[in-house]
Amino acid sequence: MSAPIALFFGTRPQVIKASVLRDCLAAVGPVVAVDTGQHYDYALQRVHYDQLGVREPDACLDVGSGSHAAQTGAILAACEAWLEQHRPRLAVVIGDTNSTLACALAAVKGGIPVAHVEAGLRAGDRYMAEEINRRVVDAIAELLFAPCERVAGPLRDRFPDARVEVVGDVAHDVLRRALPRVPPPTSVAGYDPGWGGDFVYATLHRAELVDAPARLRSVMDGLGRSPLPCLLATHPRTAAALAQLGYATQPRVRVVEPVGYLESIALARHAAAVVTDSGGLQREAYWLGVPCVTVRAETEWLETVQCGANRLIAPEHASGLPGAIADAASGRRAPDSWDRGAYGDGHAAERIAGVLSRRPQGAASSSR
Ligand code: UD1
Repeated sequence: MSAPIALFFGTRPQVIKASVLRDCLAAVGPVVAVDTGQHYDYALQRVHYDQLGVREPDACLDVGSGSHAAQTGAILAACEAWLEQHRPRLAVVIGDTNSTLACALAAVKGGIPVAHVEAGLRAGDRYMAEEINRRVVDAIAELLFAPCERVAGPLRDRFPDARVEVVGDVAHDVLRRALPRVPPPTSVAGYDPGWGGDFVYATLHRAELVDAPARLRSVMDGLGRSPLPCLLATHPRTAAALAQLGYATQPRVRVVEPVGYLESIALARHAAAVVTDSGGLQREAYWLGVPCVTVRAETEWLETVQCGANRLIAPEHASGLPGAIADAASGRRAPDSWDRGAYGDGHAAERIAGVLSRRPQGAASSSR
């Protein structure tokens, strides 16, 4: 039997994307799924296995949390040990997390070629953790799967020895498959049926925002003055930061625990607007036809802004958040006014499998 393809993931959005990739890559040959364990709370990790029917991983590296160096180092060492034992013919990594970086690095140093899914995205901030991870992984990967042509061009210029393919966005595949199973918003704890669609669904989790008390406070104050009631689903990092700040949440904002993927889509789909710092939710709102306000100075998903689906507001300017929400919510009635095809058609994982099935097989290119 040929050596398997190893598929690495570790955080909440990666667990979900990996489930679709795993299904499609099975057409290419044996696949082993490895969860690094970067996320381990039920609400961030297990809920997806339970709720979306994601199959159990073949291995879990159980690395958990830590500083960037500690976490990246732990994944690097654990992944290297796993790779030495299993010798896959290709390592597939997704996105831009510490798991992405460490698994790609362990693989390439072990002579195992790397395929990077969601290649080419940039925020233009060289000190952002995810940007560092993306830049390094794009530089060491042999196969670069980009979500759109705009980001593929610079990859071809910068990395002429890599193979760059525009495949679309696997997150779109996930949404397309999940839509028939999305429950009504009334099934989500904290949603008030009296709101109907007149509410804002908000999520905040990025370290740059949540770990900066003044920024977090001003964004929370901005949500508190929203023209519509807000339901804020927290990440453990956000809940801890709010507790540490002793922040008294405004009556307009209802704070709930992290919600599962299907509940998140249920809320996004029915909301008048989404407010977020998540890359995933920006695209989900765009595909669902729901206006988005992104609480960041920049986005990797420029097309969502260019077509009018998404507006950026830097956390420093969060006093403008109520106005931005009002502006976004007023666009809710015309969701068809923007093109939703910037990142493919929801069949990215199949395209990736197609490229890999045409790639000459063989074990890792070198061994130590
Ligand atoms: C990570 C990714 C981020 C991605 C996000 C998806 C990096 C650098 N960042 O951010 O790009 O958007 O996942 O959700 O990889 N924690 C828990 N339970 C958990 C996991 C984490 O309580 O199951 C807490 C811990 O206090 C931990 C903190 O959250 O220190 C941050 O977790 P970490 O995995 O370092 O990064 P995320 O903020 O989740």
